[in-house]
Amino acid sequence: MPNSAGSVMSVNSLTVESVSEILALATLLEGEDPLKRATRLAKRRIALLFYESSTRTRTSFELAAKGLGADTTLVSSLSSSIEKGETLKDTGLTLRALGAEAIILRHPSSGSPWLLEQETRLPVLNAGDGMHEHPSQALLDLRTILAHLRPGVETVTAETLAGVTVTIVGDILHSRVARSNMLLLPKLGARVILCGPPQLLPAVAVEAGPGIEIERDLATAMKQSQVVMMLRIQAERLAGLQLDLEEYKTSYQLNEARLAEHAPTALVMHPGPIIRGLELTGEVADGPQSVILEQVHHGVAIRMALVERALTLGNATGGRQ
Ligand code: CP
Repeated sequence: MPNSAGSVMSVNSLTVESVSEILALATLLEGEDPLKRATRLAKRRIALLFYESSTRTRTSFELAAKGLGADTTLVSSLSSSIEKGETLKDTGLTLRALGAEAIILRHPSSGSPWLLEQETRLPVLNAGDGMHEHPSQALLDLRTILAHLRPGVETVTAETLAGVTVTIVGDILHSRVARSNMLLLPKLGARVILCGPPQLLPAVAVEAGPGIEIERDLATAMKQSQVVMMLRIQAERLAGLQLDLEEYKTSYQLNEARLAEHAPTALVMHPGPIIRGLELTGEVADGPQSVILEQVHHGVAIRMALVERALTLGNATGGRQ
């Protein structure tokens, strides 16, 4: 079953050229007159289907779609017939029958976007599937990195991030954000260092793709990095893993002293939600090197581009019935 042309379910399906087009479209839409922009998808219907909680992704996709003039509807697992046992397939088919032309899906099961696309034949935007991927987050992270390290770059290539090292720290095992970033950033030439304890970073992680290394020592990793991307410990996915949080903080928490000593000019990123005092301190989160809220800001432009693209490229497999 081919992907719908407008779907974005994995970073793997994005070529460097398509990444460049998405970035350019984000910039175009962000700069466009809001009234003109709102005519692009006027009265088109987009469903947000969220089986897990979300603040940033849900809100920014909704603002993005509305900014393009689309009508949106939110279906969440706690206030819909999903609670009564309705399957993903039946919920998707119901949304399509109600006129949805694309579905933005967050779901705890890896691979669920592919099932939804197969059953509905609609473009699906993956807003996070289990521990698998979060492609729109990686794209907004990329836009944030480019804004700081490659300002003014309009077109990205396989060399755009040559010489840039990004260290991703913490709960790599459970992180769809880490996976999408470690697949995306090396496509543009970045080196990615994964850093964390073996319980949260199995050695096999280097096999996820090219350009990925493991460094267990945070100071060693930070010294080599222009970007330090911190991750939340995903308590909801630890499922019996023995992890001493005090030990974790001793070795991996990003605090002001560590940052000043090992990476005084690096960008500090975090996809959110942040847990102050665990993976990073409040001082670092609010400090001058933090671009955490900039990441959130870039999410709207990137998601406008993804929504516009989803409805413009449509689907390759039949579409709305
Ligand atoms: N980064 C991210 O996905 O945040 P939310 O869970 O709030 O959407």
